[in-house]
Amino acid sequence: MAANEVQVKHIGELLSGAHGKVLELGPGAGDQMFHYKAGQIEMLYAAEPNAFLHGKLCEAAEKYGLRSKMVTLEAGAQPGSLLPALKGAGLIPSTTSSLLDEGVFDTVVAVKSLCSAPQKQLAATVAVVQALLKPGGEFLFFEHVDNSTDAITISYAWLVDWIWPVFMGGCRLNGKLDKVVLGMGGWEERTITTVGDFKGHEVFRYIKGICRKA
Ligand SMILES: C[S@@+](CC[C@H](N)C(=O)[O-])C[C@H]1O[C@@H](n2cnc3c(N)ncnc32)[C@H](O)[C@@H]1O
Repeated sequence: MAANEVQVKHIGELLSGAHGKVLELGPGAGDQMFHYKAGQIEMLYAAEPNAFLHGKLCEAAEKYGLRSKMVTLEAGAQPGSLLPALKGAGLIPSTTSSLLDEGVFDTVVAVKSLCSAPQKQLAATVAVVQALLKPGGEFLFFEHVDNSTDAITISYAWLVDWIWPVFMGGCRLNGKLDKVVLGMGGWEERTITTVGDFKGHEVFRYIKGICRKA
């Protein structure tokens, strides 16, 4: 899904803050990679479940000075897929199912990807993201979530959501990332804003989030 001018600005603001050891969930072909400040990034772990996109991802990393710092992982964001991949990469211990108390990543990024991850596992996915962050580490996201403004929009979105995921790689229109993040503890600070000139009756409501782990 191409980003419009407003989205590019917001995604740029988010990703330019990524630093240290970074995990990106669903980076696709690396279309957002130009936003990263390569000098701030120690390592970039790109968890992209579609292995056919890894070649493009590597090309983008080469173009933006991140090739030597990027490791691709064939994994989705949901714990059952992500955790084995992180174990395989030696980022978390393979002998225990518990995550390290001190965390692993300084930044976890998701741009328009968690809508394609299993929605029933979203709370568990975000809980694992939080556990993977070091204290003070940040979860940066730009995603679309459900719009529960009025009954007509809700019904329309519900109807479209029957067919939309079939053509859009599993993308769902009923995302609740904002509600999940706001409903959990463990964040020292969290800012979630609706971006663009959202009219209130649109099916897509894009949000930008910066959550700092306590
Ligand atoms: C709309 S694309 C966005 C790609 C990229 N983040 C961007 O903004 O250009 C959605 C991405 O989510 C990925 N994806 C699909 N299932 C996923 C999952 N379970 N967890 C994480 N990402 C997933 C897709 O393979 C695809 O790369």
